[in-house]
This record gives sequence, C-alpha cells and structure tokens, in this order.
Amino acid sequence: MSDQSTPYLSLENVSKTFAGYQALADVSLNIRQGEVLCLLGDNGAGKSTLIKVLSGFHQPTSGTVRVEGEEVTLKTPRSAAERGISTVHQFGGTFPLMSLGRSFFVGVEPKKGVGPFKVFDKKLANAVVVEQMQQMGITRVTDGERLVGSLSGGERQVSAIARAVYFGAKVLILDEPTAALGVKEAAHVLRIIMQARQRGIAVVLVTHNVTHAMSVGDHFAVLIHGRKADDFAKGERTREEITDLMAGGEAMAELEAELADLTGTTNDIH
Ligand SMILES: Nc1ncnc2c1ncn2[C@@H]1O[C@H](COP(=O)(O)OP(=O)(O)O)[C@@H](O)[C@H]1O
Ligand SMILES: [Mg+2]
Repeated sequence: MSDQSTPYLSLENVSKTFAGYQALADVSLNIRQGEVLCLLGDNGAGKSTLIKVLSGFHQPTSGTVRVEGEEVTLKTPRSAAERGISTVHQFGGTFPLMSLGRSFFVGVEPKKGVGPFKVFDKKLANAVVVEQMQQMGITRVTDGERLVGSLSGGERQVSAIARAVYFGAKVLILDEPTAALGVKEAAHVLRIIMQARQRGIAVVLVTHNVTHAMSVGDHFAVLIHGRKADDFAKGERTREEITDLMAGGEAMAELEAELADLTGTTNDIH
C-alpha cells in the first residue's frame, strides 16, 4: 500500500449541515486506487451523506474535495462522473422496466461525430452487456433484451458494477451492495469488488456487515454521528474491536442524547 502517493479522491475537513443539523463534521478521508475503503457506521451516522458529497449530489457546507490533489467542486453527479466517480445505489439500477442493454448505456452520450452509440445500436448494446455480465460470472444472462426488473438483486448489483467498470470508472462507490442479498449472491458481489480493485479502481464500500467489510477491505473508516471516529488499515483492528467500535458508537450516541437532554433541562431552569 502506497500511503505516500497522492490519493485519487480526498476529503479535507468536510462538513455538511442540513438546516442546522450537522450530518457530517470535519471528515477527512483518502480514497486510493487499487484499494477498497470500507465505510462503516450505524444508521444515521452520515454514510450516505458522505457518498453523496463524493458523488456530486451534495455540496459540502465547508471543507475541500480533491481529485488527484486538485481542489474540485463536484457540482452535479455528472461532474463527478466526468472525473471517473461512479456510484451504484442500493438496488443497483433504477430502471426495472428497461432492457438490460438499454439501461447499460443510459446517459452515455456519444462522442462528437463518431461512435457506435450515436444512434442507439440495440444489437451491439445487448452483445456488450451480455459479454460483460458473462465476464463477471453471470452466466445465466444470455439476452440483453431481458428487463432489469427480472434480474436477481445480486445480478443487478453486478450489472451496475460491470457498467461502471466498462465505462472506465476510477472510483466505484457502492452503497450497501450486499444488504439485500443471500450468502452466495453476496459472496459473488464481493468477488466482483475484488476484481474491480485488481484493475486498479478505488472502491468505496458502504456496509453494516463487519464480515463483508473484513473480507474485502484494505482500509476502514468508522462514522459516528457524522464524525470520523476511527480510520485504520487492514490488520490494525480485530473483528471484535471493529464490532465494539460500531456498537460502542451506538452506546455513545445514546449517552450523548441523554446528556443533551439533561443540559437542555438545566438551561431551561436558568
Ligand atoms: N437531505 C437531508 N435533509 C435533512 N437531513 C438529512 C438529509 N440527508 C440526511 N439527513 C440526516 O443526516 C443524518 C445522516 O444521514 P445519512 O447520511 O443518510 O446516514 P446513514 O447513511 O449513515 O444512515 C441523519 O440524521 C439524516 O436524517
Ligand atoms: Mg445510508
């Protein structure tokens, strides 16, 4: 691991508030190519907000986002995509009634003048998607005309990852890709994540599942109440420590809420 090299994507002291509510507080994070960064944390910890900042859905309230060391403003998901930042949402594609071939090429504008997709070439698109799926071990999909909605959860995740890889993603952000999957499908998705990592892609994996995180993660960041509570490399914490950290965060959140209530009461009296 080359911790000295410039990370592909980084956050410096990023905060995000929503109408006075602080969802992210002073988060700094380095995302490196060829590494899987696991983002861990309880519900409401700020994981989705963080990936929305990374993928151009949200602007940070303060702090800096850098791509290859250069300060950037990711104004929209499209501007993030232009920097090679590709986000796969929880159900791996939101077009259940679209054919697999068509959904694979959705939003991909043809290059000026030339390019096979200037006029949508259904036959070619279907052939590409089937080939990419087969390469990723989804051998049951042999027809690009199949509707996205007819795929299993794991197949959808894999097709979304295949799409990102095919179009040259530098950073692949996955929000709970294994959450709704059975054991075998989850294992398949984790293998595909390792393949993406081997290709030199930076993977950001959001998960609640410590086992999944530990099986593929090179680097880990734990969010508690919008703050980065811990940041460590593979091997630096035991499974018990990681589990405790996540559970401890919950206990701490409860305590904080209780203390805030008490303080509030005290303030009311004075
Ligand atoms: N658009 C928004 N407006 C107001 N509050 C938000 C918004 N998005 C997230 N939040 C709040 O920020 C906190 C963190 O949310 P989120 O990032 O979704 O957490 P996680 O993904 O870790 O479960 C939550 O308390 C949530 O209610
Ligand atoms: Mg979330």
